[in-house]
Amino acid sequence: MNNKKIEIKNVSKTFKKRKVIKNVSFEILSSDICGFIGPNGAGKTTIMKMITGLINPDKGNVLVNGIDVSKNREKALFGIGAVLDVPVFFGYMSGRKNLQNLARLNHGMSRKQQLEKVEEVLEIVGLKTKTDDRGNDKVKTYSLGMKQRLGIAQALLNNPSIVVLDEPTNGLDPLGMKELRELIVQLKEKYGITFLISSHLLDELQKVCTKYVLIKDGSIKWSGASDTLLNSIEKNKTLEDVFMELLQ
Ligand SMILES: Nc1ncnc2c1ncn2[C@@H]1O[C@H](COP(=O)(O)OP(=O)(O)OP(=O)(O)O)[C@@H](O)[C@H]1O
Ligand SMILES: [Mg+2]
Repeated sequence: MNNKKIEIKNVSKTFKKRKVIKNVSFEILSSDICGFIGPNGAGKTTIMKMITGLINPDKGNVLVNGIDVSKNREKALFGIGAVLDVPVFFGYMSGRKNLQNLARLNHGMSRKQQLEKVEEVLEIVGLKTKTDDRGNDKVKTYSLGMKQRLGIAQALLNNPSIVVLDEPTNGLDPLGMKELRELIVQLKEKYGITFLISSHLLDELQKVCTKYVLIKDGSIKWSGASDTLLNSIEKNKTLEDVFMELLQ
């Protein structure tokens, strides 16, 4: 079986004469938790939008589960869930209602199955527990951490084998970050979900990632297993020092 979950092959993209992605290639394998790192404007969100079919590359190919996103969008995106910087929720509706509406997009499921799926994902992300159900609260009353959880719940609705998260810990407090980290590891271990996560918080990424891709000015500066990187770290240096050197 092919265990390549995401393949980026010689991808380039120009916005208004500015070349923002320059011949980028990398791969993410099954059950990797891959940290996607780079300065502001490096091209992380742009590549994540290509992976989720929101924009097309000018050149090159983006494959999800071996399927080209530009050529067979619907089939490629079937296996993917994402939380990008696009607001998807209606604040005046409950979290549950928002998910119930989004679940309608799962054409392969009956309405009953869709509604069961909503309850399942609310439980997975901890918005519904045995003692507390926050699913019926309006989204506008949710804390940031709860909104992040709802985002992940939405990403899980179609049983994805890959989840893409763009700066998921943005604005979370230390406990919120820890809970999110635990959720990611749990989803990987229990459901074998592969993750691509962008973040500027290297310490946070270091706690979960099995692989890193470093990008700067639209070009890949380094990619590989976190072990390889950690073994290369000299005494008295932190992962941040190594990233900074690689990005220079
Ligand atoms: N729709 C667009 N039109 C024009 N330029 C764009 C568009 N989207 C992105 N860009 C440009 O592409 C470059 C890469 O942006 P991108 O959002 O991918 O960076 P990023 O790595 O996600 O940065 P950050 O860490 O700040 O989120 C930037 O120069 C940005 O201004
Ligand atoms: Mg971004």
